[in-house]
Amino acid sequence: MPRKILVTSALPYANGSIHLGHLVEYIQTDIWVRFQKMLGNTCHYVCADDTHGTPIMLRAEKEGITPEQLIDRVWHEHKADFDGFHVEFDHYGSTNSAETKEFAQAIYRKLKAAGLIEVRSVEQFYDPVKNMFLPDRFIKGECPKCHAKDQYGDNCEACGTTYSPTELINPYSAVSGAQPERRNSDHYFFKLSDLRCQEFLRKWTRSDTLQSEASNKMQEWLGSESENKLSDWDISRDAPYFGFEIPDAPGKYFYVWLDAPVGYMGSFKQFCNANNINFDDYWKQGSDAELYHFIGKDILYFHALFWPAMLQHAGFRTPTKLFAHGFLTVNGEKMSKSRGTFITADSYLKQGLNPEYLRYYYAAKLNGTMEDLDLNLEDFVAKVNSDLIGKYVNIASRCAGFITNRFGENYIS
Ligand code: MSP
Ligand code: ZN
Repeated sequence: MPRKILVTSALPYANGSIHLGHLVEYIQTDIWVRFQKMLGNTCHYVCADDTHGTPIMLRAEKEGITPEQLIDRVWHEHKADFDGFHVEFDHYGSTNSAETKEFAQAIYRKLKAAGLIEVRSVEQFYDPVKNMFLPDRFIKGECPKCHAKDQYGDNCEACGTTYSPTELINPYSAVSGAQPERRNSDHYFFKLSDLRCQEFLRKWTRSDTLQSEASNKMQEWLGSESENKLSDWDISRDAPYFGFEIPDAPGKYFYVWLDAPVGYMGSFKQFCNANNINFDDYWKQGSDAELYHFIGKDILYFHALFWPAMLQHAGFRTPTKLFAHGFLTVNGEKMSKSRGTFITADSYLKQGLNPEYLRYYYAAKLNGTMEDLDLNLEDFVAKVNSDLIGKYVNIASRCAGFITNRFGENYIS
């Protein structure tokens, strides 16, 4: 019996270009999906742009356009980049869709009915000029430890300390420059600390759903049975926010990470509608279809804790397995604009470089672990020349010789 498989890659943020780091994941997934299809399995590959949140809202404002205009433009750019690298999604959607909204709200309502949503007052920095609460990365100030100036609200780039934005010395808003005030506001929490969530996640993270390194990391985060280390997850943000409103909570929006994974469902739903496929066959609890998420190790927490807990308690099936990969470095270092190693998909293609070179290089270097992977530019050239040109093309060129000599020049008509 051919298997029924639904595959996703993480949804790239709609506020930046696709770069060679992202492509590790989309190329890895694309190769895996092609393999499943060649085996004769039914395999659907969906993805989408991740479009909500404060950075996207502020960037649109800066450009003098609406968030909808921004995400529409970026959607086309991303799609062109993926096409350019032969990443063949069966459907590429957007989290800003009616389908995603419907699922996000339905899941929220189910969690609420199960007693897993709690409202609590939270004190946060507020920008009195912009009239908005500030996410950590939009607050800057002096590092409380090494006193480096202009550090972000969550960690110091100079000394590496992590802290909470309220610890910064002389904090200021990165949006308006104003001195932020502390204000209270009601926030909605998903009660991950509830025993039902902890017990479920303890089982789920150990049931062959994760690579062993990932599973070990999860056990650290979960703590021992007596510890129950998980804390509740803040899923709301105050207006102004570009996202979906929380039902029956005026002025409150879902935090982008709540609806982002729901975008997998929303995108697949659009694909089902257009192709007469039964959505429930893939998502209902107890479904015999397989569900795989390819992700980077940086977003494991969201996919291995929040996401399965949300699905489980909202009555949907949970993922069969997560495949987490490591991060791409270029010449042994983090990609950097100043070193010229922050290479976008578009700039690679515009150089006239063959996308197959990169696909081959990544395929040759990737494995099933979460180890980082290095694109050494000299090695890249050497490997393409020796493996692809020296061996692969050489086979074709030798065969061309045999065909001409032994079978006559007219053999291929
Ligand atoms: N929007 C979230 C994902 C939501 S999924 C429900 C996000 N977006 S992202 O654009 O920052 O990253 C998209 C994917 O690309 C993630 O899986 C991330 O790990 C991966 N990568 C981003 N930079 C990368 C490297 N330098 N190297 C390898 N993978 C990288 O996270
Ligand atoms: Zn510091």
